[in-house]
Amino acid sequence: MNLAGWNNLYTKCIAEQYEHFSSLSSIFLGYNLNIDLIAHIQEEDMHLLEEASFFSMLRECMITGSAREVIISAEDRAILRSLQFREQTMGGQAGIMANLFSLFPIHEIVLYTPMSEALTPFLSSTGAIRVPDEQCNLIDPHKIRACNDPDYHFILEFKKGMKISGHTVPRDNRFIASCPLSFPDNSCDSLFDREYDYAIISGFHLLEDTTPLSTSKRHVEALNRHTRVHYEYASTRASLRKSLIEYIHGFDSLGVNECELNEILKILGEDPVETIMDIYEGIKKVKKTLHLNRIHFHHLGFYLTVIDSSKSPERTRSALLYAALMAAARAERGNLSSWKDAKVGLQAPLSAEGISKMSELGSQLDYDDFVNSGIYEDHKEYLVFIPARIVEYPVKTVGLGDTISGLSFVGD
Ligand code: GLC
Repeated sequence: MNLAGWNNLYTKCIAEQYEHFSSLSSIFLGYNLNIDLIAHIQEEDMHLLEEASFFSMLRECMITGSAREVIISAEDRAILRSLQFREQTMGGQAGIMANLFSLFPIHEIVLYTPMSEALTPFLSSTGAIRVPDEQCNLIDPHKIRACNDPDYHFILEFKKGMKISGHTVPRDNRFIASCPLSFPDNSCDSLFDREYDYAIISGFHLLEDTTPLSTSKRHVEALNRHTRVHYEYASTRASLRKSLIEYIHGFDSLGVNECELNEILKILGEDPVETIMDIYEGIKKVKKTLHLNRIHFHHLGFYLTVIDSSKSPERTRSALLYAALMAAARAERGNLSSWKDAKVGLQAPLSAEGISKMSELGSQLDYDDFVNSGIYEDHKEYLVFIPARIVEYPVKTVGLGDTISGLSFVGD
């Protein structure tokens, strides 16, 4: 495999993606926006956390190094309030992606979420973000005067190497203690008839019942007349998974990680996947069964997209590469302040795991050039794979998945 070739592709993608993003005029984002209270938990915090009813789930996540999000009770919220929160920041996929896309000269980013004045300091003030007011006119969010309480989520970041019940935490990750999704209650149908370059929907992992799904299905049908619509999946409570899967049927695009892919496969009656070849097969099954045009998959060391008749698989690859650079920069610095931060990502090494999965996939597909190009065509369906870049000590992990998925979809 030609490592210099991959580094060269990585360097080239920055200008390519900037050019593409500069040609966009509008993006639609719904529906989740909240304030994240971020704590980096220490071994001495475990005593306090043991009192919370979610403790066994948190413990399990730490032992396995996995991420999880749960809706918690008022009692648990009271316990968490006594932790030290280092940072308050924009949370929710829609909010995180709105700030991400405002790093580019995009004319308009329409954010359709519940809004209150307390949320606006967390939103970028470059002027591109627009939210509907009570009459559904699009305005600058910083002019919003509604004073309803925003949603707060507690992000418990834990570090590789911490000790828990005789185990050692294998990787940095986080546990999120959330409240239910506040779905916007003014319907603003006119917003969905407008033309956007891309639309991204997220937030239903925090649903309490299925009512918002039927309202949203109407929104998505309207959006679909003019634009490509992506659903950014997050692990969803078991009782709602089936309805959510029905809702996603027919979307253009879906974003998942390994745990989320397995959650969907289970609902579809399929076995869980683990090896890279099985992951690829699993993605194809979900894509076919749910009639999707594209699935994007991200894992710590690699990302891949399976997409129908891509006009340019090289462009799909460029989007993945740029997403990896920006995710590495965010992991390194904790935040992103410019599209040029991608250059910081170039300092991070290529993932050894990503390189080895690419070789494994290339040999299973019996396609030698795969390790050089990351592109494989199968009956007009493309598999595009990249080894990601790894930051050994990320400042924080929350929001990295949204950075990767948002840039991979809009950059494609
Ligand atoms: C989920 C959480 C939110 C967090 C986001 C990060 O949407 O509810 O608090 O900011 O994930 O991906």
